[in-house]
Amino acid sequence: MNSLQSEKVQIIKDLRVVGQSIAASNYSQVYVLVDENTNIHCLPLLQDALVDEEVYFFYLEVPAGEQSKDISTCASLWESLSEDNADRKTLIVNLGGGMLTDLGAFVAACYKRGIDFYNVPTSLLAMVDAAIGGKCGIDFGNYKNQIGVFQEAQKTFIFPEFLKTLPDTEFWSGMGEVFKHALIADADYWSQLKSLSGRSISMDQIEKSIRIKQHIVEADPKERGGRKKLNFGHTIGHAMESYFLEKEKPIPHGFAVAAGMICEAHISVQLNLISLPEYDDVEETLNQFFDFPTVKKSEFPELLHFMQQDKKNENDQINFTLLSSIGNATVNQAATEQQIITALDYFFGYE
Ligand SMILES: NC(=O)c1ccc[n+]([C@@H]2O[C@H](COP(=O)([O-])OP(=O)(O)OC[C@H]3O[C@@H](n4cnc5c(N)ncnc54)[C@H](O)[C@@H]3O)[C@@H](O)[C@H]2O)c1
Repeated sequence: MNSLQSEKVQIIKDLRVVGQSIAASNYSQVYVLVDENTNIHCLPLLQDALVDEEVYFFYLEVPAGEQSKDISTCASLWESLSEDNADRKTLIVNLGGGMLTDLGAFVAACYKRGIDFYNVPTSLLAMVDAAIGGKCGIDFGNYKNQIGVFQEAQKTFIFPEFLKTLPDTEFWSGMGEVFKHALIADADYWSQLKSLSGRSISMDQIEKSIRIKQHIVEADPKERGGRKKLNFGHTIGHAMESYFLEKEKPIPHGFAVAAGMICEAHISVQLNLISLPEYDDVEETLNQFFDFPTVKKSEFPELLHFMQQDKKNENDQINFTLLSSIGNATVNQAATEQQIITALDYFFGYE
């Protein structure tokens, strides 16, 4: 039993807990939504646990990858639910990474004006971030998360065993958000993470990250102020993600965020919010864990272009969440284009 056990978000050691929760409710039908990888690696474990609890379900599969987080996939899922006469007491269980929990939550939130859904995240990124906090939605046109709503899962069950089959790159992508949680909220946690060796994260560390995210979200569920702290690293990170996607050399979200955190830490130095030794600490630590792509000076204008499109901007200024110390963040900080270029140059510095 852990301290998250009685809450809507639970870390579990036995997947039968999911079955027990469903069995205790009065759902007319249960659908498990998977992608092609979680179908192979995760569904068999959940299936055994649900059958043990006499919970029977249909499953729906979508292709793996961000391209499934779109309106046409939603339409085909809504079509399947309608054809099966799924009613308002239907439950959808989202079994997958952040792509799948964002998609499945949005499908559930809109179907018949909203049916219940559970999140059972299977990637580290989804466990500590995407499946927590009620943001759900899809990409539209070339814009990420352009269409969406805030809707909390009825329950979120974290089963860390799923991480065993997660590819290394996806594991480290999740670690990008774990490092972010430490940098914005907990200096001791940052010190602890610095001494990680190789691919490992403990149950306690997963719980710590979830708690940091939950705490921030509960204080500001609709991102009017404090929730923006979670955007640290994301202004430059999203620009890098979009730029490399356009070049057809996609980089994982957490790697882009880690590079974004280094550059945004440098902007924090330029705005006298943190010291240069604090920046060095951030850069040296993250460099140790992540392989970053090369970005040449000639590419900076295109990155700036993406930052100018960022939906977090206000009054034509590029808006950042910056560090005010290791373990603390400050929101709504505007930086000039020159300060952004200086930060990119300091970190990437290639001709
Ligand atoms: N809603 C939010 O607050 C929020 C926050 C952060 C990110 N996100 C979203 O999350 C998405 C990224 O999440 P992600 O990195 O988990 O991506 P993802 O869902 O695409 O998963 C990454 C890859 O890992 C595979 N996978 C997942 N679990 C596995 C397992 N246990 N074993 C083997 N393979 C497994 C998936 O099939 C996929 O190929 C993006 O769409 C992003 O916008 C949402």
